[in-house]
Order: sequence, then structure tokens, then C-alpha cells
Amino acid sequence: MLNIALPKGRLGEKVYSMFEAAGFECPSIRETNRKLIFENTEKQVRYFWVKPSDVAIYVERGAADIGVAGKDILLEYEPDIYELLDLELGKCRMAVAAPAGFRDDGKRTLRVATKFTGIAADHYARLGRQIDIIKLNGSIEIAPILGLSDVIVDIVETGTTLKENNLEVVETIVPISARLIANKAGFQFKRTQIERIQQSLKEQVKQHD
Ligand code: PRP
Repeated sequence: MLNIALPKGRLGEKVYSMFEAAGFECPSIRETNRKLIFENTEKQVRYFWVKPSDVAIYVERGAADIGVAGKDILLEYEPDIYELLDLELGKCRMAVAAPAGFRDDGKRTLRVATKFTGIAADHYARLGRQIDIIKLNGSIEIAPILGLSDVIVDIVETGTTLKENNLEVVETIVPISARLIANKAGFQFKRTQIERIQQSLKEQVKQHD
């Protein structure tokens, strides 16, 4: 049985459709209920819905053989997994944002509010800029408005959240999208099945280009 961790939500549903098109369907997953695990013994697949930010944990620890996780999570937590394919879904970017007109004069330690402390620390270390990281868990955009931080490091998709809170992008750190990932041992043991899925997903990505 191949264990597949899918990110709960709209992205996960798109991803499941790609697995289905690859010939690894599991019809019960489309039934509306609150079940989290679904399997198709004939196709030898078991899918489960997990919180998007938890997919990499399931895969790294082998509870899932493969899964789909955002590049933001992979950069932030650096799980020991194989990154097999860019699915080119859930595209957004990790960016530094600040109140409109903000200029970093470089004089004081920069206060940075973020959920992604690892990505923020790496980014400013590369620039040689000293920062004070303020770890938040959501609604990051509020921090500079209330004077809790000077800037934020967060995900920007359409830019609407920034705009509606009078913030603007200062710089893009890295583009983000969903990636197919595999457990290292699982990849060796179940290579044939995983590579079949990988190949089909790759072709589907190409067709969308
Ligand atoms: C993300 C991010 C921004 C928003 C950006 O939050 O933290 O708040 O999306 O999207 P936009 O550029 O299209 O406005 P998300 O909704 O994922 O929830 P979160 O606050 O839990 O991070």
C-alpha cells in the first residue's frame, strides 16, 4: 500500500484530481463526510488529508510515502525528504512587506514579524542585516500597523491582504509553489509505483504550461 498525504483544502483537491488522472483513483474520497483516510485496495493506495503544514512531517517520518507540500514549509523546516517535482500549483511568493513608503535606514536593528522565522533569519543573514525576529502565528499584517514590528516576512498571493492593510512589498525573497515529496526509505522500497505517479504528474504539469 502506498501512503499519500494530501494537504486539506482546495489545493489538496486539485492535487487529488492529478493523482486520479494518473490512474490512482480512490472514489470514496469524493464522498462528503468528515473521514480523513481513504483507500483503494485494488490500486494499492491510501490517501489521507492532513493540515498543509504537517504534510512534510508525515513524509519525513515515513507515515506517508509521498505527499504534497508547499515550498515555504520545505524551506522553513528543511525536512529530510526527496523533493520530486514542482507541481506549479498554489503559486505565490515569500516576501518582505512594510507600511507604504517605509525605508530601512539600516541604523537600528530591524524588527521582523513572521511565521517563517527560519526563512526570515536566512534572508537577513545573507544581507548581513541584524534583525529582531518576532514569531507570530497568523494575521502577520497587523504587526507593523500596531508598531510591533518594522516589516513582515509573509506569503503574498494576490497582494490583496497587503493592499487592504496599507502595506506593500519591499522585496521578494523566493517564489513558492506546491511540491511532490517522498520519504527517503519509502522511495527505495516503492520506487516503481512512486515513479509512475511522478511521471504522470510531470506530464500533467507540462500540459498546463
Ligand atoms: C496568507 C498570508 C497572507 C495571505 C496573502 O494567509 O499569510 O495573509 O494569505 O494572500 P493574498 O496576497 O492573496 O491576500 P492565509 O490565508 O494562508 O492564512 P494565515 O493567516 O493562517 O497564514
